[in-house]
Amino acid sequence: MSSSEPATEKAKNDRALRFYRDVLGLERLHYGMWLPDDPLTMEALQAAQKRYEDFLIESVPDGVESILDVGCGTGELCLNLKKKGYSVEGLSPDINQKAVFAEKVDAPFHFTKFEDSKLDGGYDLIIMSESCQYIPIDKVFEISQKLLNPGGHLMICDYFVVDQDAGELSKSGHDYNEFLRVAEFGPFQIVSRRDITPDIRKSLEIASDWADKILLGADILTEKFRQRNPFLWKIACWFGRGKYEKAMSQRVLLDADKFAAAKKYEFFLFRLVD
Ligand SMILES: C[S@@+](CC[C@H](N)C(=O)[O-])C[C@H]1O[C@@H](n2cnc3c(N)ncnc32)[C@H](O)[C@@H]1O
Repeated sequence: MSSSEPATEKAKNDRALRFYRDVLGLERLHYGMWLPDDPLTMEALQAAQKRYEDFLIESVPDGVESILDVGCGTGELCLNLKKKGYSVEGLSPDINQKAVFAEKVDAPFHFTKFEDSKLDGGYDLIIMSESCQYIPIDKVFEISQKLLNPGGHLMICDYFVVDQDAGELSKSGHDYNEFLRVAEFGPFQIVSRRDITPDIRKSLEIASDWADKILLGADILTEKFRQRNPFLWKIACWFGRGKYEKAMSQRVLLDADKFAAAKKYEFFLFRLVD
């Protein structure tokens, strides 16, 4: 084990990401890019995720040969970049993704957090697709600078917080202005950017739809029990109230309008200028 690898008991084991892959059958772990008339179906979600991935691949600058995919998830982007002829490496601190990547992609995998990594560098492009939010902003730029070849590129596509007072919605994602401020003071220049917030909203709408169906299912399944045992039901509700309240407070995370008011999902391509 290299010194940068997390000890097995400390390795990430992101259950939400496992749920997407193992239960929903999604190989890609990001929001995707939807078309306005897409129906809210699983097939449309998968097509939206493929569209987003194609957009990232089309955005790879000319002349790039070697790519490091930071927070590579299940390795789908690496696999498709490799098919296009790029030399790729994946990085993730998640123990399940390590195993899935090994099965799927014939390429080096770095089992570590980016901020703890000790890589040799020499990359033409570093990609962070919905993984930048997990890495301290200063480390995103500082380490990328060390690992990139002169004139190399850093591609970041992720959501950021624009309203710090939006409760649960403000809790995940870097502060948008802080991110831009740190980027501006470093040796990177923005060469292209695109706000894709409108393109991701249907992922929230479909998730909200599923959440409603799960609640309705629970209501139907407990109906008989509630009618026959009203007192026992009251006790069960009392014990479960903390979890229920938490789930309800997090329901706002699936509200597409509130997301668009509090957050911005943006694509950035930076170039190392000195
Ligand atoms: C939402 S998933 C995105 C996966 C993939 N890039 C995609 O677009 O489908 C976030 C990824 O970031 C990884 N990650 C979390 N913390 C990280 C860190 N500190 N350094 C590097 N990757 C990290 C997770 O293990 C996961 O692979």
